[in-house]
Parts: sequence; C-alpha cells; structure tokens
Amino acid sequence: MTDMANRLEDLRQRQAQAEQGGGAERAARQHAKGKLTARERLDLLLDPGSFVELDRFVTHRASGFGLEAERPLGDGVVTGWGRIDDRLVYVFSQDFTVFGGSLSETHAAKICKVMDLAVRNGAPVIGLNDSGGARIQEGVASLGGYADIFLRNTLASGVVPQLSAILGPCAGGAVYSPAITDFVFMVRGISHMFVTGPNVVKTVTHEDVTLDGLGGADVHAETSGVAHFVHASEVECLQAMRTLLGFLPSNNLDDPPRAPADDPPDRREESLLSVLPDAASTPYDMHQVIGAVVDHGEFFEVMAAFAGNILTGFARLGGRSVGIVANQPAVLAGVLDIDASVKAARFIRFCDAFNIPLVTFEDVPGFLPGVAQEHGGIIRHGAKLLYAYCEATVPKLTVITRKAYGGAYDVMSSKHIRGDVNLAWPTAEIAVMGPKGAVEILYRREIAAADDPAAEAARRTAEYTAAFATPYQAAARGYVDDVIDPRETRPRLIGALESLVGKRDRNPPRKHGCIPL
Ligand code: HXC
Repeated sequence: MTDMANRLEDLRQRQAQAEQGGGAERAARQHAKGKLTARERLDLLLDPGSFVELDRFVTHRASGFGLEAERPLGDGVVTGWGRIDDRLVYVFSQDFTVFGGSLSETHAAKICKVMDLAVRNGAPVIGLNDSGGARIQEGVASLGGYADIFLRNTLASGVVPQLSAILGPCAGGAVYSPAITDFVFMVRGISHMFVTGPNVVKTVTHEDVTLDGLGGADVHAETSGVAHFVHASEVECLQAMRTLLGFLPSNNLDDPPRAPADDPPDRREESLLSVLPDAASTPYDMHQVIGAVVDHGEFFEVMAAFAGNILTGFARLGGRSVGIVANQPAVLAGVLDIDASVKAARFIRFCDAFNIPLVTFEDVPGFLPGVAQEHGGIIRHGAKLLYAYCEATVPKLTVITRKAYGGAYDVMSSKHIRGDVNLAWPTAEIAVMGPKGAVEILYRREIAAADDPAAEAARRTAEYTAAFATPYQAAARGYVDDVIDPRETRPRLIGALESLVGKRDRNPPRKHGCIPL
C-alpha cells in the first residue's frame, strides 16, 4: 500500500471509531430503553446525506478517576451542520453512550463552536439533549463549560432561532440551556427535566414523586410551561422540529420562508357564519375560526397543553408565515389569567424578534378575577402581555369576533398600541364591561325600586346591549378600521398582510426595555 493509502485506511478506522461512540453494547442499552442514538436522531432530523460533522476527533483533556484510560473520539456529543428542507442549520446531539452524554470542558467547547458558527452565519441552532449533566470527574471545568453555553444561548436569543429537544435526562443547572432557547420539545416516557431529582426532593421536602411526575413531558407541557411541544415518540418529535422551522426565518435579518399560495387568497368561508352561538355567554372553539381562515386549515399550535384559554401558534396566510394569538372561549371563557398572559407574551416576543407578523383573534371577557390571581401577580404578569404587544413592531392584525371588554380590549393588539389593521365582526361587543355587570353597577337602585326588578333589569340590559355591545362605537372612532362580514375574514387579512409588507416601525433607541419579569 502507498503511504497515502495507509493514511486513508488509518483515517477510515478512526472515523469508524468516532462513529461508534460508547460502543455497541451501550448503544444496545440505549435502544433497550426505547431511545435512539445521537446519530440516528440526526439522520431523522436532517435532510438525507446533508450532515457535515465537525470535531469528531476531539477528546477530553481530563485525567484522574481513570479518565486517562478512556478518551472516546467526539467526547460524547456529535456536532456539525446540515440542512432541513434545504436550509442550513447547526446541530449538536449528545451521545448518552459516552460517559452518559455528560458535559466536559471539551464537550462544551464543541457545542460552543457550532453556536458561534450559527450566529456568525445566521442559521438556527438545534440541540438534542440526552445527558447525565456536568461530567462529575471534571468538576468546575464542566460547570464553566455550561456557563459558556448559557452565555451563548443568551447572546443568540433573538438573533437565530434556537430549538431544544430533551431526549433523555436533563438535570441540575443543565436545564437552563434549553430553558433559554426558544422552543423545548419533549417525548413522553423518555424526556425528564428537573433542577433536582426525586431523591433530593424526598430528602429536602419529604415529597414522594416519580421521575415522570416530577419532570416528565406532560408535566412540563401542562403544568410548568417549560415544554412547548410534547410527543409520543422521538420520530414524531424530530419531524415536528422540521415542521416548525418551515415557519421561521433563519435569523432576525431574514424574512420567514414563503410557501406557495396554493389555497385561494380570496376564499370566502361560509362556515364562519355559524361558528358563533346565538347566546354571547355560550362557548365555541376558536380553533374553528383559525382553521377556516388560514391556508389549508393548518395551525401549528405552540404550548397547546398549557393555558388553553389562549391559543398560540404558527400558520400561513397567502403563503406567508404568521404568528397567531387567539382567545379561546371554549376554555375559561377565554379569560386572561397569569399563565395565558405569560404564554402569549413570550410567543409575541419571539414573533417580533423574527419578523413574523402577528394575527390576533379576540374574544375576551377580561382578566380573571380572584384572590389567587391577584396574589399570584396577575398585574405583573398581565403587564407582560401588554408590554409584548406594545413593543412589537411587526405587522399586527386583529379580528374581534365577539367580546373585547375592559383592559383586555386595550391589551389584545388594539389600535391604540399600534395595531395596524383592526377588524371586527358585526357580532363584536367592544365595551368597558359586559351588559350584565354594567347594568348591575349603573342601575342597581332603579332595578331594586322597580315593581318588577327582573323586567327592569332585562330592559336596562337590552338598552345597554344595543348601545354598547356592538362594534360601532369603536368603528365610529376609528378604533376598528372596519366591521366585516365574517366570511371575508381570510381575504381581508391576506390583503392587509400584503399592504404591510413594507412596514417600517421602530422603538426608541435604548439598551433594552425593562419588561416586568
Ligand atoms: C460522568 C456520568 C454522569 C456524569 C452518568 N454517567 N452521568 N459520568 N458524569 N454526570 C455515566 C455513568 O457512570 C455510566 O457510565 C453511564 O454514564 C450511564 O449512566 P447510568 O447511570 O448507567 O445510566 P442510567 O441508569 O440511565 O441513569 C442516568 C442518570 C444517572 C439518571 C443520568 O446516570 C445519573 O443520575 N447521573 C448523574 C446525574 C447528575 O447528578 N449529574 C450532575 C447534575 S448537576 P458507564 O461507564 O457505566 O456506561 C449538573 C450541574 C450542571 O449537571 C451545572 C450547570 C451550571
């Protein structure tokens, strides 16, 4: 063999060794747990054949605790770039078969390298997390590695989209890297996230809790709000990450990709005439409105299992990506509470950072009353939603389908806070409060003194409803731009979106605002 041939053979062997990770036995253990390996995951995530690996020959530099004897190539994380729908993305995929995917100084440096490249080249970063946390034998060097990643997560925030899948354990301070990223995906039975595990919880608070009960996918999707998406399998999860990226631009200077406008933009939707029940207090499902309006009825919902009284998610109108925020009358009458405010505020800020126009469907009776909400800080948290809408400079479209009462009217992308095009259906009720509450306050004495109090209350309510529970007072002041036939909602929104393509709006120069966190 020539010298070159020898060297190529040597290279091939080293490459094969790097691909082995922690070896076949540990890979089998991974499979036995129902988990995929780091490389299998990348194969599913990326366009076939597009992955280009970096740093496959990196080894850890630590010694002691027997580490000298084991220096696996790649050091427990597979990094590089690839393509999703032919668009560049940077990726890292932790390899649980190598020291449990634990993070060493060099493992962290590999992740930092792809993050730096992603920011420099304006492409999303996707992290597939499956790790026992800080590599215990490396002590503070591994803690430093985490901090290096946290800093980069923070500096990349709002510059390139950052997606995290939790595909195994993610514990201790390690949780804070995914937590800073824009979207967290989890898989039932496989993903676990917590700051301290069940054993520590038992010792400190004497609570008995299982892994899933403490930090499983459903808990984080429904209760803590840490997870944006929960899936039944890794395959489904990785596919969903691809779908999400299809709505997003690669970075904050790009526009979102345009899909073909193959759903007729002028489509009138007859079903919108019958979505609303006759009685204003009867719930309906706002998904029906969204589904009828957006391209092909496709709504990619974000945080679907958390604070169901507000809906957030991505869709397309005339092929353009939009972020949808919608009150959901079917859950808690669509009221705004702490969780709904925080959920929507975060979504709005993401869309604003990444040039994704906002479309708001409004049917909101107000903020949720109650001691728990007041003491929980509904003032502070509701302010986040208001702040997020106020500061957003992307095109903002609003459709008021029914109730727009009280402060919630102002908050939900009203004209006063730079809503660009605000439309109302003829069923809209834009007022300080609902007829029943208003009449009780304004005419309490008259109703009590009447011969027939119930009839008097009904008469006053009808009077108030005719005067205030309509869109026309708001329309008379230009607070809504038009009152429209519900069937026209889709063409009107698409037309408005097109008129706003060149929108220029800026906030005053400043280091950053002080959102009430
Ligand atoms: C070094 C680790 C490791 C770690 C696991 N391993 N965690 N090696 N550092 N943190 C190794 C194991 O020794 C084992 O090696 C292999 O990975 C697989 O681990 P198992 O325990 O056999 O797997 P499993 O039963 O599935 O349990 C997974 C686990 C458990 C729940 C993650 O390994 C575990 O509790 N690990 C420690 C978790 C932890 O406390 N980490 C520190 C958190 S604090 P072999 O050779 O047998 O294959 C933290 C701080 C971050 O991370 C701070 C940021 C600021």
